[in-house]
Amino acid sequence: MEARRIHHLGVAVDDLDAAVTTYERVLGARLEHRETVPDQGVEAASLRVGEGRVELLASLGEDTPVGKFLAKRGPGMHHVAYEVADVRSALTELAGEGVELVDEQPRRGLFGLEVAFLHPDAMDGVLAELVAHG
Ligand code: CO
Repeated sequence: MEARRIHHLGVAVDDLDAAVTTYERVLGARLEHRETVPDQGVEAASLRVGEGRVELLASLGEDTPVGKFLAKRGPGMHHVAYEVADVRSALTELAGEGVELVDEQPRRGLFGLEVAFLHPDAMDGVLAELVAHG
């Protein structure tokens, strides 16, 4: 498996509106998408920063994945997303190599993207997301 590039960086934030304003003001970032996903307990904003992209993640409650992350570690880097040609074939290949996966199958992520997560223990402590395209 060969990742094509870093698709985005995921950052956990306490206040999404404030964080969007900060990234716009400090970096000249441009808001690309904003979405609330009750299923995943998250409200998210995708911002373009030059050719790169940052995904800001706010929690909809303490008992959600991002809520637990914020309670434990506070705001900060949450995950790195890598673009791959095909998420399913990447997962099959990585599982065969014994890489610890969070998702055995691709699933629908934020903003309609097909994604899957790799366990932080497999990636030197950083949660990794595979993204198909975009
Ligand atoms: Co992401």
